[in-house]
Amino acid sequence: MNILLINGPNLNMLGTRQPEIYGSETLPDLVNALREYAAGKSITLRDYQSNIEGEIVTEIQNARHWADGIIMNPGAYTHYSIAIRDAISAIDIPVIELHISNVHAREEFRHKSVLSAVCLGVIAGFGRNSYFNALDSMARHLQSK
Ligand code: DQA
Repeated sequence: MNILLINGPNLNMLGTRQPEIYGSETLPDLVNALREYAAGKSITLRDYQSNIEGEIVTEIQNARHWADGIIMNPGAYTHYSIAIRDAISAIDIPVIELHISNVHAREEFRHKSVLSAVCLGVIAGFGRNSYFNALDSMARHLQSK
Protein backbone atom coordinates (compact mmCIF):
# COMPACT_ATOMS: atom_id res chain seq x y z
CA MET A 1 0.00 0.00 0.00
CA ASN A 2 1.41 3.40 -1.02
CA ILE A 3 0.40 6.51 0.89
CA LEU A 4 1.54 10.03 0.06
CA LEU A 5 1.82 12.60 2.85
CA ILE A 6 1.59 16.23 1.74
CA ASN A 7 2.35 19.14 4.06
CA GLY A 8 1.52 22.66 2.94
CA PRO A 9 2.87 26.09 3.80
CA ASN A 10 4.73 26.78 7.04
CA LEU A 11 4.70 23.16 8.15
CA ASN A 12 8.43 23.06 7.41
CA MET A 13 8.64 25.40 10.43
CA LEU A 14 7.32 22.79 12.87
CA GLY A 15 9.48 22.69 15.97
CA THR A 16 9.87 26.44 16.25
CA ARG A 17 6.54 27.73 14.87
CA GLN A 18 4.09 28.53 17.69
CA PRO A 19 5.06 25.41 19.70
CA GLU A 20 2.18 26.01 22.10
CA ILE A 21 -0.15 25.22 19.17
CA TYR A 22 1.89 22.95 16.93
CA GLY A 23 4.28 21.22 19.35
CA SER A 24 8.06 21.22 19.45
CA GLU A 25 8.79 18.28 17.16
CA THR A 26 10.37 19.11 13.79
CA LEU A 27 8.76 18.00 10.53
CA PRO A 28 11.64 15.61 9.62
CA ASP A 29 11.37 13.94 13.05
CA LEU A 30 7.60 13.61 12.73
CA VAL A 31 7.83 12.24 9.19
CA ASN A 32 10.49 9.71 10.21
CA ALA A 33 8.34 8.48 13.09
CA LEU A 34 5.32 8.22 10.78
CA ARG A 35 7.34 6.40 8.12
CA GLU A 36 8.54 3.88 10.68
CA TYR A 37 4.98 3.39 11.96
CA ALA A 38 3.78 2.93 8.37
CA ALA A 39 6.53 0.42 7.58
CA GLY A 40 5.35 -1.68 10.54
CA LYS A 41 2.02 -1.94 8.73
CA SER A 42 3.63 -2.71 5.35
CA ILE A 43 2.74 0.76 4.09
CA THR A 44 5.19 2.73 2.00
CA LEU A 45 5.00 6.40 2.94
CA ARG A 46 6.31 9.11 0.66
CA ASP A 47 6.34 12.66 1.92
CA TYR A 48 6.26 16.05 0.25
CA GLN A 49 6.24 19.58 1.68
CA SER A 50 5.86 22.85 -0.18
CA ASN A 51 5.03 26.42 0.63
CA ILE A 52 3.81 26.96 -2.93
CA GLU A 53 0.24 26.30 -4.01
CA GLY A 54 1.01 25.33 -7.62
CA GLU A 55 3.66 22.84 -6.53
CA ILE A 56 1.13 21.14 -4.27
CA VAL A 57 -1.33 21.01 -7.19
CA THR A 58 1.32 19.32 -9.34
CA GLU A 59 2.18 16.85 -6.57
CA ILE A 60 -1.50 15.89 -6.22
CA GLN A 61 -1.76 15.40 -9.99
CA ASN A 62 1.38 13.24 -10.06
CA ALA A 63 0.19 11.14 -7.11
CA ARG A 64 -2.21 9.31 -9.43
CA HIS A 65 0.79 7.40 -10.86
CA TRP A 66 1.87 6.03 -7.49
CA ALA A 67 -0.34 6.60 -4.46
CA ASP A 68 -3.30 4.55 -3.27
CA GLY A 69 -4.25 7.35 -0.87
CA ILE A 70 -3.16 10.82 0.18
CA ILE A 71 -3.09 12.27 3.69
CA MET A 72 -2.60 16.00 3.66
CA ASN A 73 -2.14 18.90 6.03
CA PRO A 74 -2.82 21.75 3.61
CA GLY A 75 -1.97 24.45 6.19
CA ALA A 76 -3.58 27.80 5.44
CA TYR A 77 -4.49 26.69 1.89
CA THR A 78 -7.24 24.67 3.58
CA HIS A 79 -9.22 27.84 3.98
CA TYR A 80 -9.08 29.27 0.47
CA SER A 81 -7.34 27.21 -2.21
CA ILE A 82 -9.82 26.38 -4.94
CA ALA A 83 -6.84 25.20 -7.05
CA ILE A 84 -6.02 22.48 -4.50
CA ARG A 85 -9.70 21.56 -4.22
CA ASP A 86 -9.90 21.18 -8.01
CA ALA A 87 -6.74 19.04 -8.04
CA ILE A 88 -8.26 16.69 -5.43
CA SER A 89 -11.46 16.50 -7.49
CA ALA A 90 -9.45 15.74 -10.63
CA ILE A 91 -7.86 12.55 -9.31
CA ASP A 92 -9.44 9.26 -8.40
CA ILE A 93 -7.51 8.77 -5.15
CA PRO A 94 -9.00 9.27 -1.66
CA VAL A 95 -7.61 12.22 0.30
CA ILE A 96 -7.82 12.76 4.07
CA GLU A 97 -7.47 16.36 5.28
CA LEU A 98 -5.68 16.64 8.61
CA HIS A 99 -4.77 19.37 11.05
CA ILE A 100 -2.57 19.40 14.11
CA SER A 101 -4.74 21.95 15.87
CA ASN A 102 -8.50 21.95 16.37
CA VAL A 103 -9.25 24.54 13.71
CA HIS A 104 -12.84 24.86 14.97
CA ALA A 105 -11.62 26.09 18.35
CA ARG A 106 -9.51 28.82 16.75
CA GLU A 107 -10.10 32.02 14.75
CA GLU A 108 -13.27 32.08 12.68
CA PHE A 109 -11.39 32.16 9.37
CA ARG A 110 -10.01 28.69 10.21
CA HIS A 111 -13.49 27.20 10.68
CA LYS A 112 -14.11 27.06 6.95
CA SER A 113 -12.36 24.51 4.76
CA VAL A 114 -12.85 24.67 1.00
CA LEU A 115 -11.28 21.19 0.74
CA SER A 116 -13.29 19.06 3.19
CA ALA A 117 -16.21 18.52 0.81
CA VAL A 118 -13.96 16.77 -1.72
CA CYS A 119 -12.02 14.77 0.86
CA LEU A 120 -12.82 11.36 2.27
CA GLY A 121 -12.75 12.81 5.79
CA VAL A 122 -11.11 15.27 8.13
CA ILE A 123 -9.00 14.73 11.26
CA ALA A 124 -8.16 17.75 13.41
CA GLY A 125 -7.03 18.63 16.89
CA PHE A 126 -4.97 15.64 17.97
CA GLY A 127 -1.56 17.26 17.73
CA ARG A 128 1.05 15.02 16.04
CA ASN A 129 -1.38 12.12 16.49
CA SER A 130 -3.55 13.65 13.77
CA TYR A 131 -0.95 12.32 11.30
CA PHE A 132 -1.00 8.81 12.79
CA ASN A 133 -4.80 8.81 12.97
CA ALA A 134 -5.01 9.89 9.33
CA LEU A 135 -2.62 7.14 8.27
CA ASP A 136 -4.62 4.53 10.21
CA SER A 137 -7.91 5.77 8.77
CA MET A 138 -6.56 5.73 5.22
CA ALA A 139 -5.12 2.23 5.64
CA ARG A 140 -8.42 0.92 7.02
CA HIS A 141 -10.32 2.61 4.21
CA LEU A 142 -8.09 1.12 1.52
CA GLN A 143 -8.16 -2.34 3.11
CA SER A 144 -11.95 -2.34 3.18
CA LYS A 145 -12.27 -1.48 -0.52
C1 DQA B 1 -3.10 23.80 10.40
C2 DQA B 1 -4.24 24.79 10.70
C3 DQA B 1 -4.28 25.90 9.67
O1 DQA B 1 -5.34 26.81 9.97
C4 DQA B 1 -2.98 26.66 9.68
O2 DQA B 1 -2.98 27.66 8.68
C5 DQA B 1 -1.79 25.78 9.54
C6 DQA B 1 -1.77 24.52 10.28
C7 DQA B 1 -2.95 22.73 11.51
O3 DQA B 1 -2.26 21.76 11.25
O4 DQA B 1 -3.49 22.87 12.60
O5 DQA B 1 -0.82 26.12 8.89
O6 DQA B 1 -3.39 23.14 9.19
